[in-house]
Amino acid sequence: MDNENNERRERVLSLIQPTSVPTIGNYLGALKNWADMSESYDCIFGVADLHAITVRQDPAKLRKQTFEMYALLLALGLDPEKNIIFVQSHVPAHSQLAWILNCYTQFGEAARMTQFKDKSAKHADNVNVGLFSYPTLMAADILIYQADYVPVGADQKQHLELTRDIAERFNAAYSPTFTVPKPYIGKAGASIKSLQDPTKKMSKSDANPKASVSMLDTPDDIRRKFKSAVTDSEAVVRYAEGKDGINNLMTIYSCCTGKSFEEIEREFDGKGYGDFKPAVAESVIETLKPIQDRYNELTRDKALLEKLAAEGAQKAAYVAGKTVSKVMRKVGFRQVNK
Ligand code: TYM
Repeated sequence: MDNENNERRERVLSLIQPTSVPTIGNYLGALKNWADMSESYDCIFGVADLHAITVRQDPAKLRKQTFEMYALLLALGLDPEKNIIFVQSHVPAHSQLAWILNCYTQFGEAARMTQFKDKSAKHADNVNVGLFSYPTLMAADILIYQADYVPVGADQKQHLELTRDIAERFNAAYSPTFTVPKPYIGKAGASIKSLQDPTKKMSKSDANPKASVSMLDTPDDIRRKFKSAVTDSEAVVRYAEGKDGINNLMTIYSCCTGKSFEEIEREFDGKGYGDFKPAVAESVIETLKPIQDRYNELTRDKALLEKLAAEGAQKAAYVAGKTVSKVMRKVGFRQVNK
């Protein structure tokens, strides 16, 4: 991070909300790519607790889940020495920049966001202004670190496009200030579907517990959930239009084993779903096992996690502070002589 002006490596940033234990959708769509990118890029990863309160949260639960999500990020194998791993609310500059970006975003642009429309329908009793301006806070998260790439699942693509528009608008109005970020959306796994309704994305907040597999589910839970996954009556393992359930299971199996769809079709040639579903479950169990083991160890050491989060916040605040000062100067705020 220090040699920023001369040989800055490309920078990667992404955040995840601590609203509940992440699903294998979050993992295969985003977190797995974070871990894969963390060796070759300057990486900044965070827990988006500010975003979480756009939906009503229980305070004690939010505090606990934020801490657990932080531990889970470390359990992915992200190295806090090489990467910045932090909690969003620990860096107040995000909120500061979000306010400024609100003033460079049109009402119509924010109103077009499909996630806003979905969430306002789902939480009709609490359509708050924070929910509406959620994407400008997300833009601030990204632009404040001058990120080049943002690894996310397909559901965040529209927010990334808005972020790019805001950055380009600001740069054109003043002078180049923000790096215009590119989404990094993996080919496989960008949209893992619900096991009970494979036309819908797998979501942490699904009311049906059989619809999603969490990263901390036990092997027995995982076996049970895959056993009851909705498929079709053809009983042939092949990737094809109209076979949403099997396509989803093949995607999960492919992401966990590295096998291509052709290889999977060959492996299960002549076999039915009774063989395929348990194989998918075992591949998920095996993929999650090392992460779960590290997670269980890390959550026992609260002092270590608190120390790492404090260091992460300090490093993040340093990088964020530079962008915010620049932005404040450009929009015309008087600097105070300290
Ligand atoms: P969140 O917390 O909903 O999800 C975290 C990441 O998981 C991806 N994801 C999925 N990928 C594939 N299949 C699925 N079924 C699936 N469900 C979720 C999401 O695309 C995301 O990458 N707004 C963000 C958090 C955020 C953020 C940011 C992300 C806040 N600031 C800045 C990037 C950059 C969110 O709610 O993700």
